[in-house]
Amino acid sequence: MTIKLKKQTIKILRELKKKAGEVVAKDLALELNIDYIVLMSAINDLIDNDLGGFREDEIYQISLNDEGINYLTKGLPERQLLNILLENDIKEINIDDLLKRSKIEPSIFYIGVSNLKKNRWIAQSKASGENRIYLTAEKFPQTEIERFLQIFEGKTMIDYSTLSKNEIKLLDQLNKRKLIKKTRKNQRTLYLTDKGKKIAVSEIQELRQISKITPEMLSLGTWKNYELKPFDVSKPGPLLKAGRIHPMNKLINEIREIFLSMGFTEIRGPIVESAFYNFDALFQPQDHPAREMQDTFYLSNPKTAKLPESDRVNAVKETHENGGDSGSQGWGYEWDINEAKKTVLRTHTTATTIRRLAEFYRNNDKVPVKVFCIDRVFRNEKVDRSHLAEFTQVEGIVIDDGATLCDLIGLLSEFYRKLGFKKIITRPGFFPYTEPSMEVSVYYDKLGEWLEMGGSGIFRPEVTYPWGIKDPTRVLAWGQGLERIAMLYFDRKDIRDLYINPIKWLRSQSY
Ligand code: PHE
Repeated sequence: MTIKLKKQTIKILRELKKKAGEVVAKDLALELNIDYIVLMSAINDLIDNDLGGFREDEIYQISLNDEGINYLTKGLPERQLLNILLENDIKEINIDDLLKRSKIEPSIFYIGVSNLKKNRWIAQSKASGENRIYLTAEKFPQTEIERFLQIFEGKTMIDYSTLSKNEIKLLDQLNKRKLIKKTRKNQRTLYLTDKGKKIAVSEIQELRQISKITPEMLSLGTWKNYELKPFDVSKPGPLLKAGRIHPMNKLINEIREIFLSMGFTEIRGPIVESAFYNFDALFQPQDHPAREMQDTFYLSNPKTAKLPESDRVNAVKETHENGGDSGSQGWGYEWDINEAKKTVLRTHTTATTIRRLAEFYRNNDKVPVKVFCIDRVFRNEKVDRSHLAEFTQVEGIVIDDGATLCDLIGLLSEFYRKLGFKKIITRPGFFPYTEPSMEVSVYYDKLGEWLEMGGSGIFRPEVTYPWGIKDPTRVLAWGQGLERIAMLYFDRKDIRDLYINPIKWLRSQSY
């Protein structure tokens, strides 16, 4: 059967034959000065006839940032410093004098000095009582990293995939020195199939196809010369780039609906929180490791927080020191109010539920109280594919007379069932503020695995007594991170995607 193709498609086929290999679609569109969409529609015609195709790859491109570009022309800081020494015939110099002479910003100057040492071009000594450096080498050949930097000469971008193993190592060094920028994009590469390579263009008939018949065509009868293009209802229509609710917000709304359907009310609390509500009121001792700077963001502005009424602060103090009236012995140390006044970025939404206990006390509220909170929390974590320093927690509490662990398990089962997890298990856990404490895991059918979701428990008397909540009134509590569920729901392997917002992913979400 003879193949019929549109004039434009035949032209593209001819071009691809000329190239005799793979071509980047964007490059070809540029070269032929045709619209990318027109090109891709021609490629689709080739695909339909099994003559060609395209491959989609994610590519990384690398370029120098402003500082990198500066070094490309002036030399890396170590080379700049070396040149000062050589031009002025300096064999040794006080480091501060060199700093002054170089007019280089101190932070960059010291990077330069440290690399001079690494290259073994200088030695540093404080033996004389001053901090001096000495030229120790005689030759100062171009270093590997300097040679590598040159590949950016005259280029704005280079393709990551063109780099050798060794070059990638050098690139890492430039990256560590914060001299490069990375961009990620999708690239389509066009190719011909064996059939496409073999076929002679002369074998192909030009298709004169139209999708509309005009009145002239009818009156002149020329419509007979054309082939009518059939409608293909299976082809996707044009992409609608309308705004839509972010998937994370949709998920939050769904969870909010679940809580509301279970009779809970939403509460919110401040992000800038006192250590008092974040830790002390949760019976977390003041030397607890979670309070340390490596885990928690402390703020210098505002530096101190207002504490609640002094009798309540006192009740918390007593609980820490000797258990107060909670029946506990407390931690047996001297509680420091200044530690409690420190301001932190809330590390968990439990701080907000404790505020609800305080309100319960002030308003003399009646049980039952069922509230939830879905909100941002902060931890001093190194950000990677499974950790964020700023994330969302989902938390709920129930204040009721005679509430039991069975009630809590029932609530958790119902909550997770509504979220789509039919089976849950609870295991003994530990939190400083609950007793008993349970870890909650749910069964995820799609993976056939149990996944740990979060913590739960009954607030200890040490937590509830300062707010007048005493047996038989108890507080059931549970909380978990939202992003872990979101990663499962949206099938994202990298937690950062939820906030970096890859546009392709967002556009693929339903309305
Ligand atoms: N606050 C705990 C966390 O951040 C979760 C939790 C909430 C545990 C309530 C027990 C009770 O992981």
